[in-house]
Amino acid sequence: MTPTPLPAERPRRLRSTPAMRWLVTEHRTHPSDLVLPLFVREGIDEPVAIGSMPGVVQHTMDSLRRAAHEAADAGVGGLMLFGVPSVRDAVGSAATDPDGVLNAGLRALVEEVGDALVVMADLCLDEFTDHGHCGLLDGRGGVDNDGTLVRYQEMALAQAATGAHVLGLSGMMDGQVRAVRDALEGAGHTSTAVLAYSAKYATAFYGPFREAVDSQLTGDRATYQMDPANAREGLREATLDLAEGADLVMVKPAMSYLDVLADVARLSPVPVAAYQVSGEYAMIEAAAANGWIDRRRAIEETVLSIRRAGADVVLTYWATELARWLR
Ligand code: PBG
Repeated sequence: MTPTPLPAERPRRLRSTPAMRWLVTEHRTHPSDLVLPLFVREGIDEPVAIGSMPGVVQHTMDSLRRAAHEAADAGVGGLMLFGVPSVRDAVGSAATDPDGVLNAGLRALVEEVGDALVVMADLCLDEFTDHGHCGLLDGRGGVDNDGTLVRYQEMALAQAATGAHVLGLSGMMDGQVRAVRDALEGAGHTSTAVLAYSAKYATAFYGPFREAVDSQLTGDRATYQMDPANAREGLREATLDLAEGADLVMVKPAMSYLDVLADVARLSPVPVAAYQVSGEYAMIEAAAANGWIDRRRAIEETVLSIRRAGADVVLTYWATELARWLR
């Protein structure tokens, strides 16, 4: 046998002990990087389980308060609230009703944990419209961009009035960041921040969420959410949102779009968030329930991958549990 030259470099030296590995680790997840999405539903006395998202529920106002405290105690950085109203109509009236379920839930969260963590509001009409689209219909089967912007402005004012710290604009209408920023400034809500869902894709991975909010949608969102084939367009969306005044930008879903996330993170002068969505959650829970995957390692690794790709903030349904592990 010919003698093999000895390796000139030995990367294994830095993997030799747990202490060495911990010292040289490039990325860590901290509890305060995590945001927990929560659902509050009108007209229920007990939390309702979401079949496709084991461990996640639609909350009552009381259980919402408890979940918020658990997240705060675990050191989670923020909460993102979605509302499930009992009455829906064509324009999503419940979204702008100060006593509507989302606005009431936001007030409860601000009161309970508003000093400890960041309270975020989902700003979109899909949970509130009887047709399930994220905006107003134009009568020709389409979604009316500019008419919807007016509704988003009204929704923003109602949400800002609850004391919510961040409004998460997830509707993918053109010009939504500027429209909402203008409305907030005009009403004196100068400290209310805007998180722009900049690159939000029309993906299969929102499937379980539709059950979580009892979505009424027939058809799809392809005329406003992005085509999964497009990466460059994600940069364009993020660039536009930054120019319109976004305080944070987001890529969603996370795991199938880590390339887009890395690109956006490279160019963004503001913090970048990523949303590990319902389908990503359901896949890991289902595989773990079958004993096919190590649940905890899979959760830690996927969130770490999202951080490594460039996310400063990660929205994940495991936020509270993961935060406890990390402490
Ligand atoms: C729209 C919205 C959706 C999600 C968050 N905001 C659904 C959609 O666009 O169809 C999905 C979140 C998830 O799947 O976890 N308001």
